[in-house]
Amino acid sequence: MTETVLVTGGAGYIGSHTALALLEAGHRVVVIDNLINSRPGALAEVEDLTGHPIVFVEGDATDEKLVEHTIRENAVTAVIHMAALKAVGESVEKPLDYYGNNLESAIATLAAMRTCDVWKFVFSSSATVYGDPESNPIPETAAIGAASPYGRTKEMIEMIIEDVAASDDRWQITSLRYFNPIGAHESGRIAESPIGKPNNLMPMVMDVAAGRREKVLVYGNDWPTIDGTGVRDYIHVMDLVEGHVAALEQMTDGSGYQVFNLGQGRGTSVLELIAAVEEATGFAINYEIVGRRAGDIAECVADPRLANEQLGWKTRRTTADACRDSWNSQ
Ligand code: NAD
Ligand code: WQD
Repeated sequence: MTETVLVTGGAGYIGSHTALALLEAGHRVVVIDNLINSRPGALAEVEDLTGHPIVFVEGDATDEKLVEHTIRENAVTAVIHMAALKAVGESVEKPLDYYGNNLESAIATLAAMRTCDVWKFVFSSSATVYGDPESNPIPETAAIGAASPYGRTKEMIEMIIEDVAASDDRWQITSLRYFNPIGAHESGRIAESPIGKPNNLMPMVMDVAAGRREKVLVYGNDWPTIDGTGVRDYIHVMDLVEGHVAALEQMTDGSGYQVFNLGQGRGTSVLELIAAVEEATGFAINYEIVGRRAGDIAECVADPRLANEQLGWKTRRTTADACRDSWNSQ
């Protein structure tokens, strides 16, 4: 079935790639974004790459009336809710901004959907809800316990949407817990380009590879991991967004509330990722080992089998592919 999908936060890194994957799968795309952490240029690139138009509304997903109007005007049939503030460190300094923006945008979007009789909702959750996991790889049934205000907004929204789904059996709601998205569309024309200093490892490594920054600070080499540096499950952003298309397309009447991990199921250390970027770019990456970053954990790797089995979805791209595509997008 062809859907008209409202992507809140759709001008951002994952949102613009999601728009591309949806259009390529034959769906229509409407975006609401307030551009607090993005520029509209990425969506123009997506239109150009796919040859399909995107309806772009510059505005705030906390504005229930605006979301309602956008849904009605465009006959939206499903929503992927990505609008959020996402910097862990900033969320510790400004918790009210994070709880305000992330919770209110989710609630306003759900309320507008109910008013407009639209019931398919996909939520951008995060592996951060697992906090410091007891063991790896992590299944969806593992204990939840986010360690930052940002992570707790994801945990709280998951609780809210589970209650919402239980309140009316017309809802079809899926939370997708992303592990660490990296990479870019293979054209290189849409990129991860955060506004301000990058927080995440890959944009930082790209800055060094491109000569915009002198070195990568590696946060600790005394973790209980293969080489002492932090291990994460890096997932190519195109694999990640294809998981959204699969999640949307498998929703059926009565599918209720579902939760899936989206990851490769394979861990990579900071030093291994740096080596993979060196291999992909041909440049040596200068780095320095410094102390651990507050709030970091040793390891976070997905058990993606539930999504593999129930969504018929699997990652198809490697970490090396992601390094090459990130570099292409520079
Ligand atoms: P991003 O910052 O590039 O995209 C988020 C977009 O939401 C931005 O374009 C921003 O301008 C917009 N936005 C924020 N608040 C808004 C509001 N109230 N109304 C309208 N637009 C608003 O981040 P991303 O990496 O593309 O993340 C997308 C989603 O995935 C977020 O919900 C994020 O929490 C989640 N997520 C990201 C990661 C990651 O590592 N990138 C991991 C797990 C989950
Ligand atoms: C990865 C590894 C760092 C930067 C965060 C959020 C999580 C999710 C994804 C949204 C760690 C190390 C990093 C640097 C480094 N986002 N590192 N030097 O911390 O796994 O997850 O982004 O939901 O919620 O917490 O990702 O890319 O910041 O770090 O050594 O300059 O790289 O210590 O081991 P993280 P990251």
